[in-house]
Amino acid sequence: MKRLLSLCVNGDSTQVAVWPQATLLDLLRTELGLTGAKEGCGSGDCGACTVLLDGEPVNACLVLALEVEGRDVGTIEGLNDHPLQKAFIAHGAIQCGFCTPGAVLSAKALIEKNPRPTREEAARAMSGNLCRCTGYTKILDAVTRWNDLPEEGNGAEAEGSGVALGAGGEEAAPDQYDSPGGTVVVGRRLPRIDAPELASGRAIFTDDIRLPGMLFGKILTSPHAHARVLNIDTSRAEALEGVKAVLTAADVPETSYGVSPARYDEQVLATDRVRFVGDEVAAVAAVDEERCREALKLIEVEYEVLPAVFDPFEAMKEGAPQLHDHPRFKNNINTRVDWNFGDVEAGFAEADIVREHTFTGNRTYQQPMEPHCAVARWEPADRLTLWSSTQVPHYVQHQMSRLLEIPEGDVRVIMTHCGGGFGGKAEVNPLEICGTLLSRKTGKPVKMRYTREEMIRHGRGRHKQHIKMKIGARRDGTITAVQEEAVLEGGAYSSFGIVAVYYAGAMVPTLYRIPAFKFDGYRVYTNLPACGAMRGHGCPHPRFAFEGVLDMLAEELGLDPIEMRLKNAMQPDSRTVNELEVGSCEMEACLHAVRERSGWEEKKGRLPPGKGIGIGCGGFVSGAGYPIYRSKFPHSNALIRVSEDGRAATLFTGESDIGQGSNTVLSQIAA
Ligand code: FES
Ligand code: FES
Repeated sequence: MKRLLSLCVNGDSTQVAVWPQATLLDLLRTELGLTGAKEGCGSGDCGACTVLLDGEPVNACLVLALEVEGRDVGTIEGLNDHPLQKAFIAHGAIQCGFCTPGAVLSAKALIEKNPRPTREEAARAMSGNLCRCTGYTKILDAVTRWNDLPEEGNGAEAEGSGVALGAGGEEAAPDQYDSPGGTVVVGRRLPRIDAPELASGRAIFTDDIRLPGMLFGKILTSPHAHARVLNIDTSRAEALEGVKAVLTAADVPETSYGVSPARYDEQVLATDRVRFVGDEVAAVAAVDEERCREALKLIEVEYEVLPAVFDPFEAMKEGAPQLHDHPRFKNNINTRVDWNFGDVEAGFAEADIVREHTFTGNRTYQQPMEPHCAVARWEPADRLTLWSSTQVPHYVQHQMSRLLEIPEGDVRVIMTHCGGGFGGKAEVNPLEICGTLLSRKTGKPVKMRYTREEMIRHGRGRHKQHIKMKIGARRDGTITAVQEEAVLEGGAYSSFGIVAVYYAGAMVPTLYRIPAFKFDGYRVYTNLPACGAMRGHGCPHPRFAFEGVLDMLAEELGLDPIEMRLKNAMQPDSRTVNELEVGSCEMEACLHAVRERSGWEEKKGRLPPGKGIGIGCGGFVSGAGYPIYRSKFPHSNALIRVSEDGRAATLFTGESDIGQGSNTVLSQIAA
């Protein structure tokens, strides 16, 4: 039974009824609608839920609501244009902004005791507030210099946050838009246009949405890495009070889905087999998440456990367990890339030195501070509205239309503020699909969200790669040929793996003039969570391998590593050996600047034991060459609508701002 609680929130006394097991975070977000405090982990690790309890910062997810009887709670909603909020905006300490309310409150508790904290003091006080985006430097700038901003008009205003298109806020004088040289909005560092709403906690993330009559959903996943599903009995779960719907494979579309049309290999819910610990088996909707969890425990699944394989080299052997039956995936090879550009044998023959080394780069996961979340509302006349913390709304729209067999025009995907993605939110996910199907079945909106553990089981992180990298060079450092083999351990499904293995090779020749290049790539299925897109797709591991071998060659040739890179640096208006066009390119200028500003000459080889200086270069494509799904339309276009009085313009693009600031930059460009 709920208990009545009296407390003071942001200076106002209030009474609220709570369940005994409810946390302070539940109380604030669910009962009081104060959604500025975020749930990033629910276990006291991230600090996104930080609020002030009697002036002290606490993790609201760890405090029972009943503990705050008669106490003072301060949330981000209680601050109004606080100098710290202005400082976070002015110093660029906000990217996705998911961590910002919690960070601002921790900083507030600090400066009230210590108005001029040092960087070390600030870092210590803020150590419980994780930020996945900023790298902390700017957060510490904001916290240590919060009272350096002018009393009237902080840096944000001075730099014209009201000027950029769509910024809202103050109106700029008309001549500011077209001042000679565009000095107002172009070529200047502007605060993010959405920084004020992020700093105030008013920005709406998907989990902040609460619709009338909304249900919650959860997914039952496989406890086995590889098993046949023999039988599912959902009768006990369906009988549980508060449960509104249970789905198994029999209730959902048979259409498979995925990222690339050439590799649709995922099932909404397991039809006959599960292929990793975490594969989706059944889904429930109920009045709250607790009831969903109880219902999941009541679903009885009979499995026949099958042999599993976790290593890509084992998986490719004859007789290994096969994850997918289609003949194109023989020996569990999901994607094979076989490239030869230029005459590699001749290139190695003319080299004075050839070196080959092997490297292994591990799996890693994105873990944005905001876990995946989706809210689906099935509308009358078979239409769908879907709010999601997605990176790519049009991918989601496309897949939902395919799976539901309704026109794309009847699927509306609304991207809310997104608390970071790093590639992990770049594809349609089971929450979006199951939430929609549960909403269709119940006629009610359904919210589904992953816990932090579920985020890891869902996967889509960086592939583990086993790389052989061979480079040939002349005595003067000129590269004559490169040969690479990469075996990517991909997990149970394709996801973005086809792109990862392509980029594992394609990006290697982009930085240097390489006359001949051979690449053998294998992306292999294993009984682990599927790997997908993560920050540079498949590029970072091979790039590390390449730069490593380059350094070893330089050392053997007695060349300075920067000189060796300059010797081969890519030039503007050129074409790589694998036919990628390079337009602008300042590789040489960049290397010169790095040498000078890093103090390379003074430091290289002269630092004491345990200290060092090194160089590594990286590059990536910009401007997607072709769409992931087949479409008659270009994927890169924009629309600007100008108001009748000519004073406002609205920019529409398919770009998603997940914290990188694209809305701000595109507004600057449009302006
Ligand atoms: Fe409470 Fe992470 S510390 S949500
Ligand atoms: Fe801190 Fe994104 S800005 S998590």
